[in-house]
Amino acid sequence: MRMLTPRKSIAIFSLRVALVDSNPYNHAMTASSAYFALVPAAGSGARMGGERPKQYLPLAGQPLLFHALATLCSVPRITRVFVILAPDDIEWSRHDWSSLGPKLAPLFYGGATRAESVRNGLRATAAQVQPRDWMLVHDAARPCLAPWHVDALIDGVGDDDDGGILAVPVTDTLKRADESGKIGATVARETLWQAQTPQMFRHVYLRRALENHASVTDEASAMEALGFHPKLVAGDPTNFKVTYPVDLLLAGWILQHRGDET
Ligand code: C5P
Repeated sequence: MRMLTPRKSIAIFSLRVALVDSNPYNHAMTASSAYFALVPAAGSGARMGGERPKQYLPLAGQPLLFHALATLCSVPRITRVFVILAPDDIEWSRHDWSSLGPKLAPLFYGGATRAESVRNGLRATAAQVQPRDWMLVHDAARPCLAPWHVDALIDGVGDDDDGGILAVPVTDTLKRADESGKIGATVARETLWQAQTPQMFRHVYLRRALENHASVTDEASAMEALGFHPKLVAGDPTNFKVTYPVDLLLAGWILQHRGDET
């Protein structure tokens, strides 16, 4: 077990004590926590190079964003699915989302970075959730999320306050480049994992983490900076992030053939 620095231990302890103190009925500490999804979808998708933001590119007959939202809405344990859109988003209203049902809640609070979009989403949802409820933050750009990925994460984390993330063990041999672009070192891959989403944390801790650490590329990094040790829950490589045009073809194939293997 890794040791916390005294400063971090005190910070986490104070945060937990503050949470108990701020809850006069203390019922949220004992009642079972609800699960909410929060999907940042306010990026421009510059690396895709298209006119339209990545989350609205056509994929298997729907906007790319539709697929992850459909999965999250279909998971019975998830109460609501908040989607964080850019304040000047003009695409959302052009599509029909009604088949996803009443769980879906668009919020036009996106920020300049992914972390800001998530932080804004946590601020905007604070009145609708209990401090200890779980937020499952999922990239809109991972359309091949399946219900069994979500269930694996929720079951894998359980009630552990450290939360956790879906991830896959690294399979390639990894090289560290030197300044001249040659191999400086080979990095042992045995303990390395690739982080995916959803990443699942209690609302109160995640909000505190992102209010204090805004320059992170995932939620787990902000939680780690606060001294938490999120769990790595094994997902699978189909839940990859669509980044380049070729990824869209692969995602389309996976969505089309899903279920063939059973
Ligand atoms: O650009 P990238 O693929 O890393 O974005 C990951 C996720 O974060 C996407 O779902 C994207 O829409 C979202 N994002 C956001 N606000 C930003 C930048 C990215 O919600 N300012």
